[in-house]
Amino acid sequence: MRHILITGGAGFIGSHVVRLFVNKYPEDEIINLDKLTYAGNLANLKDLEGKPNYSFVKSDICDYEVMKNLFSSRKIDSVIHLAAESHVDRSITDPFSFAKTNVLGTLNLLQTAKEAWGSDFKDKLFYHISTDEVYGSLSFTDAPFTETTRYDPHSPYSASKASSDHFVRAFHDTYRLPVVISNCSNNYGPYQFPEKLIPLFINNIRHGKPLPVYGKGENIRDWLYVEDHAQAIDLIFHRGRIGETYNIGGLNEWKNIDLIKVLIKTVDRLLGRAEGTSDKLITFVTDRAGHDLRYAIDASKLTNELGWKPSLQFEEGIERTVRWYLDNQVWLDNVTSGDYQQYYQKMYGA
Ligand code: NAD
Ligand code: TYD
Repeated sequence: MRHILITGGAGFIGSHVVRLFVNKYPEDEIINLDKLTYAGNLANLKDLEGKPNYSFVKSDICDYEVMKNLFSSRKIDSVIHLAAESHVDRSITDPFSFAKTNVLGTLNLLQTAKEAWGSDFKDKLFYHISTDEVYGSLSFTDAPFTETTRYDPHSPYSASKASSDHFVRAFHDTYRLPVVISNCSNNYGPYQFPEKLIPLFINNIRHGKPLPVYGKGENIRDWLYVEDHAQAIDLIFHRGRIGETYNIGGLNEWKNIDLIKVLIKTVDRLLGRAEGTSDKLITFVTDRAGHDLRYAIDASKLTNELGWKPSLQFEEGIERTVRWYLDNQVWLDNVTSGDYQQYYQKMYGA
C-alpha cells in the first residue's frame, strides 16, 4: 500500500490523475492537496466523494509546517506534484505569484520530502510534472524537443517551471532524493479552466462572443488529450527510472488558426447551426508578449522504454471535448461567474 500525495489535484490535469489513481489503485491512499486558487475546483472530483481511499486537504504547498505535519501524519511515501500557477498570460501580469508557487512551493515540497524521508529512500518517489515550454520555442522546421534539448524559457511561467525542474534535479544530484520528471505538451479535455484556448473558445462560440486570436494565429502547439497524459503519468510513476526525464506529447501539431476553425465547425454542427455561422467571431488581436512560435514533443523515449502512445485521434478527442463543454454548461457557468469559489470557500475557508 502506498500513501500518495497528489498536489494540484483540484485543477485540470490533477483531477484526471486523482480520478485515475483512486479508481485504479483502491489499495493505495490518495491524498489530494490543493490551495483551491481560482483554477482549483472540487466540482471536478464530485464523483470521488466518499471513496475510502481518497481524501482532500486544502492547503498551500508553500506552507512548511502544514507540509511537514502532513508527511509524518499521513506517512506520505510518494508525491505527484502538479500544483502550479499555469497560465502564461497571467504570468505576464503577475510573475511573482508564479515564482512563489512554482519555484518556492516546489522547493518547499522537496525539502519537506527530504526531511521526512531521512536517508531511507526505499520505495519513495518524488514525481514532478512539468511542461514542454521550458525548452523554449521551435522554428517551423526545427526537430521536436527531446529530453536533452537545452532549456530556453521565455515567459515568466516557463521560467518558473524551468527553475522548479532544476531544483528537482538538484535534490536528486545533491541528496539522492528519488525523483522523476516529465515534460508534457499542451493538454485539452474536460475540466480545463476557460482561460486557456480550447475551453475559452468553445464557450465564446456558444455565446456568440469574439474569439481573440493572438497575432496571426500562426503559432503551433502539440495537443494531447488529458486522459492520455494521465495514463503516461501512471506509467512513469510506476515504471519510470529514477533520476530520468520523460517527454510526453501528442504527435499532433496544430496551427492555432486551423485548430480554431475545427472548434468553430464542431460547435456549430453540434448546436445545429449552419456551417460557417461563427466564422465571423474570429478577431485578430495584439500578439502575446514573447509568444513562443512552436512547441512539438518527441516522445520516443517514453514509447520505447515504457510502451506509451496517445490512445485518441485528435478528431475524436476534440469531438468528445466540445460535447463535454456543451453538456456541462452549469460547470462552465459556475467557473466563469466564480460561484464555485464561494461555495467551496464556505466549506473549507477562504
Ligand atoms: P491548473 O491551473 O488547472 O491547476 C493547478 C492547480 O494547482 C489548481 O487546482 C490550483 O488550485 C492548485 N494550486 C495553485 N497554487 C497552489 C499552491 N500554492 N498550493 C497548492 N495548490 C495550488 O493547471 P493544469 O493545467 O492542470 O496543470 C497542472 C500541472 O501540469 C502544472 O504543473 C503545469 O505546469 C503542468 N502542465 C500543464 C499543461 C497544460 O497544457 N495544461 C501541459 C504540461 C504541463
Ligand atoms: P494557451 O491555451 O494559453 O496555452 P499555452 O500558451 O500554454 O500554449 O494558448 C494556446 C495557444 O493559443 C497559444 O499560442 C496562445 C493562443 N491563444 C490565443 O490566440 N488566444 C487566446 O485567447 C488564448 C488564451 C490563447
